[in-house]
Amino acid sequence: MSSVYITTPLFYVNAEPHLGSTYTMVITDTLARYYRAQGAETFYLTGTDEHGDKIAQVAAEAKLAEKEFTDQVSAAFRRIWDDCGITYDHFIRTTDAHHVQFVQEILHRVYNAGDIYFGKYGGLYCVGCERFYTEKELRDGKCPDHLTVPKLIEEENYFFRMGKYQDRLRAHIESHADFIRPEGYRNEVLAMLREPIGDLCISRPKSRLTWGIGIPFDERYVTYVWFDALLNYVSALKSRGEATFEKFWPEAEHFIGKDIVKPHGVFWPTMLMAAGLPLYKHLNVHGFWTVEGQKMSKSLGNTVAPLEVKAQIGMDAFRYFLLRESVFGQDPDFRQESLVSRYNTDLANNLGNFVSRALAMQQKYFAGIVQPLDADWPAEDRELRDKFLQTEKDIDGFMHDLQFHRALESVMAALDHANRYIVQMAPFTMIKDPTKQARVGAVLHQLLEVVRTLARLLAPFLPDTVGELRGLLALEPAALTKPWGEGFAPGHKINPPKNLFPRIDTDAKK
Ligand code: MSP
Repeated sequence: MSSVYITTPLFYVNAEPHLGSTYTMVITDTLARYYRAQGAETFYLTGTDEHGDKIAQVAAEAKLAEKEFTDQVSAAFRRIWDDCGITYDHFIRTTDAHHVQFVQEILHRVYNAGDIYFGKYGGLYCVGCERFYTEKELRDGKCPDHLTVPKLIEEENYFFRMGKYQDRLRAHIESHADFIRPEGYRNEVLAMLREPIGDLCISRPKSRLTWGIGIPFDERYVTYVWFDALLNYVSALKSRGEATFEKFWPEAEHFIGKDIVKPHGVFWPTMLMAAGLPLYKHLNVHGFWTVEGQKMSKSLGNTVAPLEVKAQIGMDAFRYFLLRESVFGQDPDFRQESLVSRYNTDLANNLGNFVSRALAMQQKYFAGIVQPLDADWPAEDRELRDKFLQTEKDIDGFMHDLQFHRALESVMAALDHANRYIVQMAPFTMIKDPTKQARVGAVLHQLLEVVRTLARLLAPFLPDTVGELRGLLALEPAALTKPWGEGFAPGHKINPPKNLFPRIDTDAKK
């Protein structure tokens, strides 16, 4: 793969970042870092969704003009993602002038092609979802996501001939098994396509809503927020020039939560067809986090703020938890107890301890000076190396399949192997025998190779820790990619150990 385009949903600016949005950002950031390290040209996009009823309402509640309000919240999103170390390449706002212009250009194009018409419509509208619902989609007459009764709205509007593309979309999904993944969400979309999808209402009269992108061929209307927002995935690339669009669009990997499968799996591909643009490559759908077993909501007061968790446990440990504790596509649960136990078990006891041990012995026995490897490469040394080389290959497969938890699990399994190697070699006993000094030096050199390789394997997951590991090993970034056995010249001096992940004392809290 030479290029990859990773996108997140554009977050509504009616709430600040929380656990759910942070999870989307952490998985996409991890992938972006992974692909960059693989040498792929990567474009990673995020941003904010700023138009529509919902935003107009919260701006009014905050007693601010819409633009002023969205400027503030969008800046807060950006600041928080920056504080979390998220390495997006472009931050788009749907209020950006180039985006507005692009949406209008597409509306013109689709209108001129005859796929937008004017008509009368009555329907049940959920402001929370910003979309119309059919009776069938409601649960006890209520929106299944917001549990509110939708408003009956009847008005004249513009419609996109979405239904015209239904068969083409179904054929595409049927012939591209991983177009929408995991499979459960693909089936969900195929089920939607078994019923007539109808046409999509894509305008709102200004008498009801002014906060939106003007319909270029009728000044009495603004554009429906989803028709506006979905186009960001193309407008952002185009804002960087046609060549950027050509390079990245065919490689588009969209990441979304399961609540917005319909707009991304049905509206968006049919819009692309009507606009004469190629379809995205994959729609990757993740599950919804609950908090201590409960749905996360402002009213329950159980929202989790990313910077608070970062302050409590560190960003890398938070990333580790999110990636290790969840299975992509399923609904994971956030528990304080599991956060701390993951930290203690995997990061403090396993990773942190291993690094301290290896570096402490190097310091104590050889004053930090790296000794030569064993010229004979005994079986144990080869097995240790092979275990890590195999783990690296496995990680490639896991990342490709979005199995982040298995990638991290395999790193921990390799570390277990390295811990057994220490026990088996027992350098702390061998050192007492003056004839075995050279072997101890070689064993410790192997352990440093483990630490160096860990730094490479963990880089996409734990970026801050990797910087620290590199500092402890006194290596330049390029040294991390050298083959096993070539990372350190004998005579190279490493630094004394540091406690990377101090254990959290759970008893003390009781
Ligand atoms: N603005 C639309 C998306 C437009 S994309 C062109 C939107 N925004 S949102 O802010 O309401 O939510 C966006 C995403 O937040 C969800 O799809 C999901 O990625 C994430 N999550 C929100 N709550 C979540 C959880 N509790 N758990 C996991 N992710 C969740 O929809």
